[in-house]
Amino acid sequence: MPKPKKIILDCDPGHDDAIAMILAASNPHIQLEAITTVAGNVEVEKTTLNALRMCDILGLEDVPVAQGAAQPLVREREIAPTIHGKTGLDGPHFPEVPRKEVVDQHAVDVIIEKVMESNGDLYLVPTGPLTNIALAIQKEPAITDKVKEVVVMGGGTFGNWTPTAEFNIYVDAEAADIVFNSGIPVTMFGLDITHQTIATEEILEQISEIGNSVSNLVSELLVYFSHTYKEVFGFDGAPIHDACTVAYLIDESIFDFEKVRVDIETEGNYTYGTTCVDRLHVTGREPNVKFATQLDYERFWRLLIGALRAEGSDPGQVRT
Ligand code: BDR
Ligand code: CA
Repeated sequence: MPKPKKIILDCDPGHDDAIAMILAASNPHIQLEAITTVAGNVEVEKTTLNALRMCDILGLEDVPVAQGAAQPLVREREIAPTIHGKTGLDGPHFPEVPRKEVVDQHAVDVIIEKVMESNGDLYLVPTGPLTNIALAIQKEPAITDKVKEVVVMGGGTFGNWTPTAEFNIYVDAEAADIVFNSGIPVTMFGLDITHQTIATEEILEQISEIGNSVSNLVSELLVYFSHTYKEVFGFDGAPIHDACTVAYLIDESIFDFEKVRVDIETEGNYTYGTTCVDRLHVTGREPNVKFATQLDYERFWRLLIGALRAEGSDPGQVRT
């Protein structure tokens, strides 16, 4: 087996962030170096609490959780309780106080330290606004030569927070602009791809049949998440946006990609936070992003469901 990929999951859990975390925790191809949190779906104190709760459930005693930015770089904070509820992980019941504690170091410093200590083999996996990663680049520009790849969930050729902007990029477009122009290789999972992952009724049934504690938790998360996606967008199920990033690092062949130019709109009356994806190469500018276009739905869900089944078997055994 090839060496596991080292990742820092920079997240704002978040129902789909929590599922990305489960996939990362259970798969032998991934080595979770740290979990860093950011304000996004809810306030950073709550995303941190949720990350700690998920670590308790997944037995991630040794993975440091570090709290990050409470505010975007420039604009006012915006959160998404309409999608993820007041807690950010509405649906299941969690013990009030997690067993795991947050580390006494800012997420930005954890990112810098881990990247600088690495052999250039560390992946940054942001599944929330890009504030922490942009701050890390500003504080220690040398990380741009060492990060192996930034694997982003964000953006797309259409929006879900405004008609043209996706939530993660919209919340901190200035940060996204810094990351996309940093020179670090960027792989992007925008709404074009993540909306291909919808957890249908049939998928929910398969998950509820597994019957271990993690799959039961995911069932409860997905019942809530599907409900809000129905209410807000009229979808027949919720897209598991953030899990695409980890699925890609486990098995790239699930996805198709194009190399394209992506620029981030940081102004605009109607278009703040838009990722301008040049799929027809009209700008003639050098591509800066590996942009996911298609996924194999069966294989994506086989991976996720396999991860949930493995939670009920011996540690380290993943059925795909
Ligand atoms: C993104 O926004 C959040 O609501 C999700 O967790 C995901 O990261 C989708 O637009
Ligand atoms: Ca997220």
